[in-house]
Amino acid sequence: MGFKYYLTTPIYYVNDEPHLGHAYTTVAADALARYMRLRGGDVLFLTGTDEHGQKVERAARERGEHPKQLADRMVDRFQALWRRLQISNDDFIRTTEERHRQAATLLFQTIQQHGDIYKGEYEGWYCTPCESFIPEGQMEEERTCPDCGRATERLKEESYFFAMSRYQGALLQHLEENPAFIQPESRRNEIVSFVQRGLRDLSISRTSFSWGIPIPGDSRHVMYVWVDALTNYLTAAGYGSDPERFRHYWPADVHLIGKDILRFHAVYWPTLLMAAHLPLPRQVFAHGWWTVEGKKMSKSVRNVVEPNRLLDEFGVDAFRYFLLREVPFGLDGDFSRSALISRINGDLANDLGNLFSRVLTMIERYLGGVLSRPRSGSGPLSDRARAMVGEVRELMECLSFHRALGRIWDFIADMNRFVDEKAPWLLARERDKREELETVLYDLAEGLRLTSLHLFPFMPETARKMWKQLGISSRWEDQVGEASWQWGQLSDGVRVAKAEALFPRLQKEKEKRIATARAEAAPPPAPVLPEPAPPSPRAGSHTLVSLEEFCRLDLRVAHIMAAYPIPGSKKLIRLEVDLGGETRTLVAGIGQTHQPERLQGRKVVIVANLAPAKLMGIESQGMILAASGDGGQPVLIVPETDVPPGAKVR
Ligand code: MSP
Repeated sequence: MGFKYYLTTPIYYVNDEPHLGHAYTTVAADALARYMRLRGGDVLFLTGTDEHGQKVERAARERGEHPKQLADRMVDRFQALWRRLQISNDDFIRTTEERHRQAATLLFQTIQQHGDIYKGEYEGWYCTPCESFIPEGQMEEERTCPDCGRATERLKEESYFFAMSRYQGALLQHLEENPAFIQPESRRNEIVSFVQRGLRDLSISRTSFSWGIPIPGDSRHVMYVWVDALTNYLTAAGYGSDPERFRHYWPADVHLIGKDILRFHAVYWPTLLMAAHLPLPRQVFAHGWWTVEGKKMSKSVRNVVEPNRLLDEFGVDAFRYFLLREVPFGLDGDFSRSALISRINGDLANDLGNLFSRVLTMIERYLGGVLSRPRSGSGPLSDRARAMVGEVRELMECLSFHRALGRIWDFIADMNRFVDEKAPWLLARERDKREELETVLYDLAEGLRLTSLHLFPFMPETARKMWKQLGISSRWEDQVGEASWQWGQLSDGVRVAKAEALFPRLQKEKEKRIATARAEAAPPPAPVLPEPAPPSPRAGSHTLVSLEEFCRLDLRVAHIMAAYPIPGSKKLIRLEVDLGGETRTLVAGIGQTHQPERLQGRKVVIVANLAPAKLMGIESQGMILAASGDGGQPVLIVPETDVPPGAKVR
């Protein structure tokens, strides 16, 4: 086994409804875990539920249930969502488990033995939803909680205290010596100034309720939920139960959390560990907060984004991709359906999906679906691919998911350009270009293999679909290790098999509404041309143009090299045409009357100097001419006898 990598999400309050925020932290951790596994890491990826505390106790009482019963019922919703989101956690911890009680008890006793726990009395304002005492100075007006805005209550009780103030200097020193300990940088600075303002001792037990881990030797007290909850990271690593496992996995490499719970992880947690003489985690990374269409998610505004509904509609991979691509990891972001749909249509259906389907179609059409490994060296794509592998690695190591995805998409753009430059449809026409054609298509397939490997952490289903179509094992375990990240792994003679499109295009809400309204009003005649067709001259309504004006149109004979359907559109076809040495891409609205395979090799007339227009995300660099048939169907205009491609039409 390679390097060990222990990473955690927070454990989620078991009686909350899982929402976008929970999904975000967990998907991010999952992408990281999958990436580290592919790199050969011995990964321990932990998530779980936080099940103790007054909130759960009250909710259970209101329903006449035992709190454990409530937790058993509620935990399923998290576990079911994680299964749908394809979360690959290695362990799921529930704080009501016996192994956790043991670990939390041991931590308390250890700190007590070191003399850092004492008994006293605590009086203060407590926020029950956040399970947190709010210092006077941080209280909002009306004594509401600065974090959640809800009412706080006055509590006075005997309490055990953790002498956190003793660790102020040690924590500051640690923060200074380990700049990567709290990330991003801005969060680190916040914590440094918080600690510099002075640390107070922390009340770590409660007597006002009983649903928690009893304080050893004094069972009137239960452990403060945050101390209980934080300890989960030790429990799962084997603290108090499996010393060998503990030595191997602890300290954690990354605690991934949201910025709202940074203080607990960046101040309470390291000082508790220091007091127990345990090593500190290498990093606490706090991501930003999601708002919805500009507003804070909240039940009262009824704008809570439920991941299950988005998964029903858009599928797991698009949702995972969107979360990690849309917003720089660490900053706040805003969720909107239209942004999600744009990402699906642009990045996924168009850039990635079209490329993949184009390349596979060409391999099937020109090489009978069988790849040959080039005999002579590797082409320019291999250098680009190598650069991507290295850069994505660095970006993943610093949890810069959006940039890692951006870098993968740069490579996808390189491949799209490479297809256009190499024009395999031209190579396919010349016998002596066979070897070059084989090399170009091998390089593209290999580039797509490396792309799929990089996509696996983010979109596991898509990567598996790509692996299957590329004729390689669809088990990630077979792709582990350094060799997989090297160029040239597709073997000679591998057979590709094109299957369903990776991402069908979605209609944007607005387009959908317009299309539906139009269809309901009157079915429009099928538009033949991608650009609005000029009004057809009817008797008596001729607009006269001068010869000079007519000559401004550059009409030419074009040879259709290749034609492909455009996923998600019945009407549009993508054409690669030869204009006599120059290749153009056209998008033509003839899909309902012409089959792409029948168009290949034909000569047609096009307007070659029409301003380019984007259709279904593809730039059309010209317009094919067709007459309107009896039923309004497009009838292509073709030269009477053979003329070379590029010949001018006047
Ligand atoms: N139980 C504690 C954590 C204990 S860890 C030792 C807790 N649980 S929680 O259920 O409230 O979930 C917290 C996680 O969800 C945090 O990482 C938090 O940042 C994340 N999110 C909750 N709402 C969020 C958004 N609106 N946006 C992004 N993430 C947010 O706190």
